[in-house]
Amino acid sequence: MTDNVTACRVAKPDIATRLRRETRDAHCRIEAVMSDLLFTAPLDLQAYQHMLQLHRSYYELVETRLGQFQSTAAMMQERAKLSWLDSDIDYVERKTQQPVAHSGSYTSAALALPDNEALAWGFLYVFEGATLGGAHILDKLRHQPHFKGRSGLRFFHSYGPNTPMMWRGFQLSLQHFVAANPGSEKQIIHGANLSFSNMYTLMKGVQVD
Ligand code: HEM
Repeated sequence: MTDNVTACRVAKPDIATRLRRETRDAHCRIEAVMSDLLFTAPLDLQAYQHMLQLHRSYYELVETRLGQFQSTAAMMQERAKLSWLDSDIDYVERKTQQPVAHSGSYTSAALALPDNEALAWGFLYVFEGATLGGAHILDKLRHQPHFKGRSGLRFFHSYGPNTPMMWRGFQLSLQHFVAANPGSEKQIIHGANLSFSNMYTLMKGVQVD
């Protein structure tokens, strides 16, 4: 009995638990900045448009990197999100009649990108986890008059009803990666925090009128 209790106390938390725990502060910061932008009624459509464009620039950079490592490239085959952002950008551009300038050079110069596979898994965690928050964001935004159905909200709809299944699939694959690469946890968590920090830097720059 005592041995079991002791074993429980010393059991190491798994990668999913560690990621959630060790990126909690970073998630709170990005959630706060995104909430200010998205949930202040009425929604500032130009700020939303700017947010989409910055997301697009960032996702393009990171998805390209994820495509350069074997295991993350395999994951990306069914997890690419650029087309979702493109369809929202097109919709909002038609609404505002104002294209937003591309900000690719700014993002690539200022941001840290993953240069090894373990870091890349941390970046992937942030993109996959964001689909969970996406459902909550969608619920709040779809009542705004700018949007109809899913138009303009494709990115936050993400995997739709498949989101929990995709999340479980991601976590399982992450566990396999860690099992095959002992000692990679620290780099994965570092990668996740780097990506949160990149996104925070980008989103802080979005002006809300
Ligand atoms: C207004 C903005 C946001 C809200 C309200 C929000 C909300 C949430 C919620 C409620 C969850 C837990 C979902 C569940 O367990 O079913 C979650 C998880 C998560 N979110 Fe967000 N989120 C926001 C923005 C973001 C952004 C911008 C990112 C990153 C780009 C992000 C990354 C994550 C990650 C990685 C998780 C998974 C945490 C875990 O390991 O369980 N979130 N979010």
